[in-house]
Amino acid sequence: MISKEEFISRQHRLLSLCEPESVCVVPAAKVKTRSQNTTFPFRQDSDFWYLTGFDEPESWLLLSNHSQFSDPYRAMAFKAKDKSAEIWEGRRLGVDAGLSFFALDEGFTSEQLADVLYEWLGGHDHIYFPMHGECAATATIMEVCKTLHHAPKENLAPASLRDVSPLIHEMRVFKSSAEIAMMKAAAKISCEAHKRAMRFAHPGCYEYQIEAELHHEFAMAGARFPAYGTIVGSGENACILHYTENSDVVNDGALILIDAGAEYNGYAADITRTFPVSGKFNQPQREIYSIVLKAQKQVIDRLGPGMTLSDANSIATQIIVEGLLDIGVLTGSVSENLESQAYRQYFMHGIGHYLGLDVHDVGDHKQDGEERTLQPGMVITIEPGIYIGADAPVAQKYKGIGVRIEDNLVITATGVEVITEYVPKEIDDIEALMRKA
Ligand code: GLY
Ligand code: MN
Ligand code: MN
Repeated sequence: MISKEEFISRQHRLLSLCEPESVCVVPAAKVKTRSQNTTFPFRQDSDFWYLTGFDEPESWLLLSNHSQFSDPYRAMAFKAKDKSAEIWEGRRLGVDAGLSFFALDEGFTSEQLADVLYEWLGGHDHIYFPMHGECAATATIMEVCKTLHHAPKENLAPASLRDVSPLIHEMRVFKSSAEIAMMKAAAKISCEAHKRAMRFAHPGCYEYQIEAELHHEFAMAGARFPAYGTIVGSGENACILHYTENSDVVNDGALILIDAGAEYNGYAADITRTFPVSGKFNQPQREIYSIVLKAQKQVIDRLGPGMTLSDANSIATQIIVEGLLDIGVLTGSVSENLESQAYRQYFMHGIGHYLGLDVHDVGDHKQDGEERTLQPGMVITIEPGIYIGADAPVAQKYKGIGVRIEDNLVITATGVEVITEYVPKEIDDIEALMRKA
């Protein structure tokens, strides 16, 4: 678990990044309607979770570095204790327990928020809050500011409104050792799930049955939800990058591409493996798979601090182009293909992304106008792929083959640490695992 002290020190760090005389307002996520009066399972806002580790909706974090306080001043709003609501909807921590649990200077109920904000915002020079459209804070903050401007105490209205998200997101780019431990747990659970899926898969099964095997393994290991929509694409479906229908029967001889990761304590894993349902790669599948595997391994071998995701992309692209030229899927020279980007009809997505509380994790990819380099403590994916549509202008034997191989990596001082190594990706190892099943 991430300690209470770590959450508090993140709050202090955030305040230290703000201007003097600032208040930060960070709200929890809202409950989202699924249909009529049913809701989606609640998922806490990642920034709020990062700062508090608190999983209730309708809660708010307020932080102040006003000079009247000698230390950062910390408060939270909680849903009020309410016996009847708790019988119907579930337990609530409430103000009293929340105050001591989070070692706050002040606690109040969410119903009191507007009044509390009126007091808080008046007298601060800057308000930092998340300026994205989903943010529950916007309307309330605007309303309070309007009132402050028209109030006799007009000079107490804050002079500037600022987006708090970039500050939090920059903090989230670099994972602490406690976060990396959490991400390793998410990765391990997800690897076991991929192995379970490989063992289960057989001709005639349905993609959604494989999905059920993955989700079963996640939940049995303490990760109740996937970190994103699970992709189980067999045959040509593997060429649809975000295929989540998972509704087809898996035909004998097909490759299955699974892109699935568990969410564990808020942290995502993001793993892709591609394997033959029969347990044995046929020749064209083996050829395409080997190119992707070579590209992926080369990137992982060569990647380290100081390099960029674009460097990783160049390494992978070079190998993919050479491989596709070798088997005649592309024609011409390597340099012509790199120049014309003809390979992009078969490898059309990025080489990877940051990973953390969100599967496509936050953080600026540029610094001072330049692409930022990878540094120790960052966690990323590396996920090259080749997708040859059924209508591609290539030999019949390659049509409809889609392969992606995706691992999760921690950037270290000297290179990278692969944290998703527990599920095989070598052809022999995959075939051996499936033979045993
Ligand atoms: N699962 C989404 C991705 O690989 O980026
Ligand atoms: Mn993925
Ligand atoms: Mn990914």
